[in-house]
Amino acid sequence: MTLRQDGIPDPCQASRALRRESFFRLALLTCLTGAVCVSACSNEAPAGSSTGGVHTTGSNATGGAATGGTTGTTQTMGGSATGGTATGGKAGMPQTIGGSATGETATGGSAGMPQTIGGSATSGTATGGSAAGGTTEATGGSSTGGASGTGGSATGGSATGGSATGGIGTGGKATGGAATGATATGGTALGGTTTTGGAKNTGGTTSFGGTASTGALAATPPMGWNSWNKFGGSVTDTLVRGIADAMVSSGMQAVGYQYINIDDMWQASNRDSSGNIVPDNTKFPNGMKALADYVHGKGLKLGLYSDRGTKTCAGKPGSYSYEAKDAQTYASWGVDYLKYDNCSPAAGSNIQTDYTNMANALKATGRPIVFSICAWWFYTWETSIGQLWRTGTDIVDSWTEDPSKSSTKGHNFLALLDNNGGWSSRYSDASYGSPGLAQYAGPGHWNDPDMLEVGNGGMTDTEYQSHFSLWAIMAAPLIAGNDVRNMTAATKNILTNADVIAVDQDPLGIQGKPISTSTTLEVWSKKLSGDQTYAVVLFNRTEASAAITVTWSSLGMTSTSATVRDLWSHTDLGPTATQYTATVPSHGVVMLKVVGG
Ligand code: GLA
Repeated sequence: MTLRQDGIPDPCQASRALRRESFFRLALLTCLTGAVCVSACSNEAPAGSSTGGVHTTGSNATGGAATGGTTGTTQTMGGSATGGTATGGKAGMPQTIGGSATGETATGGSAGMPQTIGGSATSGTATGGSAAGGTTEATGGSSTGGASGTGGSATGGSATGGSATGGIGTGGKATGGAATGATATGGTALGGTTTTGGAKNTGGTTSFGGTASTGALAATPPMGWNSWNKFGGSVTDTLVRGIADAMVSSGMQAVGYQYINIDDMWQASNRDSSGNIVPDNTKFPNGMKALADYVHGKGLKLGLYSDRGTKTCAGKPGSYSYEAKDAQTYASWGVDYLKYDNCSPAAGSNIQTDYTNMANALKATGRPIVFSICAWWFYTWETSIGQLWRTGTDIVDSWTEDPSKSSTKGHNFLALLDNNGGWSSRYSDASYGSPGLAQYAGPGHWNDPDMLEVGNGGMTDTEYQSHFSLWAIMAAPLIAGNDVRNMTAATKNILTNADVIAVDQDPLGIQGKPISTSTTLEVWSKKLSGDQTYAVVLFNRTEASAAITVTWSSLGMTSTSATVRDLWSHTDLGPTATQYTATVPSHGVVMLKVVGG
């Protein structure tokens, strides 16, 4: 693989640009939530909080909190917050509109007389407005790709459930009124008190495994298999069909694995005379459409691979300047996922432009195709164009550093773990900055520390258990990279652990982080959906077994007592006060689900 070492942009500059862009996008979004607002926006009050008047707009904050006007006569509107909290106006007479928030929480206006409209959140949580009394109407918050949209509540009025695209919608509640249940497009809907037509999982708890098959892409981290780690260039039609069969017969499909992804070297060495990308007809004699049909017939999905440059990393034709043509070809074959690599950039090309061109070309096909960005290093612009992006270089099936690779910042499992999930001080690349990459993860957009090596032989089963547990607590894509046709019982047991997979696939989509000060005997935590509910990984990097303790207060739990489940022994350990201590084997983990109360 040729690594591009140059051209890494100033991350602060990129992040500043993103913030600016987000602000303008969110301002527009807020305005679009109501017709009154659209006209009022043109004479919007300057940033800051004001009292009275026709229209007050809350402060706009980056990384902070914005609170809407408090007593607008006609309309109050929450501010826009990037990475913070936006709270809608309160006590606006005819209308209050919740703030817009990116990455955090937007809360709708409250107690507006005729109408309150919930905030809108991108990758955060939106809570609908609440309206009390009279002829009121409350419209739930809307959340795009975010954690949840919760319906408004109305007493004596009507409430419309929150709507979530690629997130979770919780049904609206109404007392003495009418409630329409949540709708989820490609996401998950948890039934409300009264739910009419919740699109997915009505009235139930969410189940992992991609039950939401239409609409928003990658509402939970993608799960599947990829040919590269085990088979490299030896990928064929026969292999892919055999893997698809085994995904079903091994039980992997039943616990959520879905995508069968063909990596590099499926292509012929040259495009056809019309410039179309074509498969190597020795390896794929039936063509890609027939293979996609076979994979779809198993209830699975098919992924392909290409590159933003003139050639792929293995020297096959890249998609540079053929983006629209290739995207149309993939769509016509029935491709569901595209991994897009970063080798052989064309002279004078720009990495962001190249990736954006393919993202747009995929969208233009009208077919939902997951866009997996494989640009190796993390760039903030990736978060708005792809569903997942790599956060380091290629994984090597090894616990320890491979000295021959150390100049490329480390490929082994621990190095990728630290790049993707650690605090800034643990990063091999300090430019990521605190608090790390976890802030960019959420429904529809995931950090990708690279594909799994579980079962490929370079590590012990204890180390593979750690690899799988830590990928799960980081809400990483779970893309198996082994020969699933021939797995040991231990490998299968790791890859199909439904308790651990449920942590990865938790619908809130929060990426867990290390919370311990120790960097050798570590405690990792991930907030799960459900009150006071957390996943915990106790991880021992040392060469001897050791006791590791997690305290409930360190998780942010308010309860002093909690029930504990061991997710590898599958045993409920019962109520435990204050903390839990386990003896953790060298290089191993103990993984827990902890519920306070
Ligand atoms: C790069 C990618 C790998 C793999 C190979 C294929 O190295 O990072 O994941 O796709 O190319 O050539």
